[in-house]
Amino acid sequence: MKSALAIAFLVSASFVAGGPIRSSSRQCGTRISKGKMIAAEKQFQALKESRLTMKAAAGADDSTPGPINVYFHVINKNETGTRDDGLIEDDIIEKQMKVLNEGYEQSGISFKLQNTSRVHNPEWFSSASPDSAYQTDMKKQLRQGGPGDLNVYLVGFEKGDAEGLLGYATFPSDYEGAPEDDGVVVLHSSLPEGSTAKFNEGKTLTHEVGHWAGLYHTFQGGCSKDGDQVADTAPQGRPTSGCPRDNAPDTCPGDKLTDPIHNFMDYSDDECLTEFTPGQKKRMYDQMRVFRKINYPELPEVGAPETPAEPETPTEPETPTEPETPAEPETPTEPTTPTESTTPTEPTTPTESTTPTESGTPTEPETPTESEAPSEPETSAEPETPEEPEFEFPWEF
Ligand SMILES: *[C@@H]1O[C@H](CO)[C@@H](O)[C@H](O)[C@H]1NC(C)=O
Ligand SMILES: *[C@@H]1O[C@H](CO)[C@@H](O)[C@H](O)[C@H]1NC(C)=O
Ligand SMILES: [Zn+2]
Repeated sequence: MKSALAIAFLVSASFVAGGPIRSSSRQCGTRISKGKMIAAEKQFQALKESRLTMKAAAGADDSTPGPINVYFHVINKNETGTRDDGLIEDDIIEKQMKVLNEGYEQSGISFKLQNTSRVHNPEWFSSASPDSAYQTDMKKQLRQGGPGDLNVYLVGFEKGDAEGLLGYATFPSDYEGAPEDDGVVVLHSSLPEGSTAKFNEGKTLTHEVGHWAGLYHTFQGGCSKDGDQVADTAPQGRPTSGCPRDNAPDTCPGDKLTDPIHNFMDYSDDECLTEFTPGQKKRMYDQMRVFRKINYPELPEVGAPETPAEPETPTEPETPTEPETPAEPETPTEPTTPTESTTPTEPTTPTESTTPTESGTPTEPETPTESEAPSEPETSAEPETPEEPEFEFPWEF
């Protein structure tokens, strides 16, 4: 999946008995470079306008789109094994469909399971990851339907670049250039009742489908105004970890809004993720109308969230000019014309900043050389720190 992804985030490559190490916070492999994002947004705006014009010319079509067809592809590494080998039963898939539909209910988007295929392939199971040949091969062989159909691949993310991921997705704008690559790949044990602690209520699929429907992470672009291209999600400096529901951080203090820790497009634990905003709903409709040819209605623009109102500073009552000399009736003081309030400045279009080289080989986070320091039991797992430096960089992860 060359287009949507650049650098796959690498989690510590050491193994413990029983499986790959997973970070304590959500690891989504869906990311986009700033340069590519700017280009995609430009194309989106242009297509949105031209298709609206076409639609107006063709006359209004008020039919509501039906549910999105879903094709599950369940990859396993041992056909006679257990659920941990990827043998996910139909009842779990039904539960996952329910979680997915509940997550999108408020947005008026629904999903219907069309078919489930089960495939034995240990390599796809272990190593399918954003840029790997395994995933490309898998999707080429299994994908069903057209631009408006959702294909979900369940794998194990055990080795190499795949290790530690919870899921990744393609964006709607990627479809035209790589239709066979379209879809979402998620960790089988992130489905309801799975074995991945904190991420086993099925919200990973809800999150990845958010990307598939056109959403970025809520922390995309950090505290910058345009951020995730949705006006009513609070700016967010970094992903949320855990579920700090009683003490939500405010990583962009200027806006007086706490981080959107309950938003499906943040990184909080599953129990915390409960909502999309009206602005995200509109963006999904627009993205899917333009790129997936699904006839969602055009919704009104959604503004920025209300900032908590400042206690109004009462306007100083004008000190009335003393009517000392009552005699002179002539010089009436001109009613002061209210000064024009500053005209709102146009939202600055993001200037093309140094586009990070897409092609360049990702700078490998120095692989711990096997040979040296064999004595230390090496607590190299350190879940929090390694990903931090990338926040400054215009990638999302
Ligand atoms: C597959 O699973 C079965 C049952 O757990 C086990 O006996 C067998 O050794 C496994 N096969 C492989 C190749 O791991
Ligand atoms: C469902 O998937 C299986 C496995 O790929 C395939 O054999 C079958 O024809 C599919 N059924 C439908 C109705 O698409
Ligand atoms: Zn994501």
